[in-house]
Formats: sequence, structure tokens, C-alpha cells
Amino acid sequence: MISDKMCKALNNQVNAELFSSYLYLSMSSWFSERSLSGFASWMRVQAQEELSHGMKIYDYILERGGKIEFGTIEQPESKWQAAAEIVEEVAKHEAKVTGLVNDLVDVAFAQKDHATNIFLQWFVAEQVEEEASVGEVLERMKMIDGDSAGMFAMDMELGKRVFTAPVE
Ligand code: FEO
Repeated sequence: MISDKMCKALNNQVNAELFSSYLYLSMSSWFSERSLSGFASWMRVQAQEELSHGMKIYDYILERGGKIEFGTIEQPESKWQAAAEIVEEVAKHEAKVTGLVNDLVDVAFAQKDHATNIFLQWFVAEQVEEEASVGEVLERMKMIDGDSAGMFAMDMELGKRVFTAPVE
């Protein structure tokens, strides 16, 4: 059985992952509305990934006999001025999520909840990958600096990314 404190912290993380999904879908729609279909597809894949992260935690709470508690999902932003601004916000958002995951690990340690600590290691590793991945896109956006040929190439490349469900 999971402690109330750990359960509450995990439920908060489900909310944070679902908010991430909502935010990335909002970004995807921004790109779709501007015919940047590769960027839109990339953010849509990101949104699917965040939903799968939330569900992974949801399933874990249930597996440990915890209670699912839903909260309000914050309204995501929807007004941006440029593609580069969005990519920058994704990078900042992922850094924030890494902080949340680290806080969860701290709670698991404090609660001596070794099972949850092991479970969370998947998220620790995932954040390293997510930050590296968006960091690469951000660096390339800086190189492109709004150049239309560069944006076109980037849009083509990002459109190739597909969603793969996380491995258990
Ligand atoms: Fe679920 Fe992008 O972190």
C-alpha cells in the first residue's frame, strides 16, 4: 500500500503530465493554423507522449492500491508570436517537469518507498532524453533564425517523428 503523501504527489504528477499534453496540443494547433504541419505533427506526438506518461502513473497508483484524485487541468497558453518562441517554451517546460520528477523522487526517498523510487527512475531517464531532444531542436531553430528555407527543412524533418508508446 502506498502512503497518502506519496499518492497525493503522484496524483499531482498525473495532473502535470495531462497539463503538458494539453499545452503541447495547444502548440500543435498553433502550428497547424499556420500550415507548419511537420511542427504540428511533432507537437501532437509530444502531446500523446505526455498523455501516456500520465497514464503510466495513473496505472501505477491503482496497482499500489492508491486512490485516484483528479484536479482541475490548467488552461494552456495559446498565443505565441513565433515558432522559435514555442520551441523555447517547450524546453523551459521540460526543465520544469524534470524538477517535478526530481521532487517526486525526494518524496519516495523520504517515505522509504523503494518501489516508487524504482518506478520513478523510468521518468528520470525519460526527462534526460526529452530535454536533449528539445534542446537539439532549439539549437537548430537558433541557427535557422527565421530563414524560410531552414524553416521548411525543419518542418519536413519534424514531421517524420512518430509516436511510440513507452515500454513497460
Ligand atoms: Fe512527461 Fe515531457 O515529460
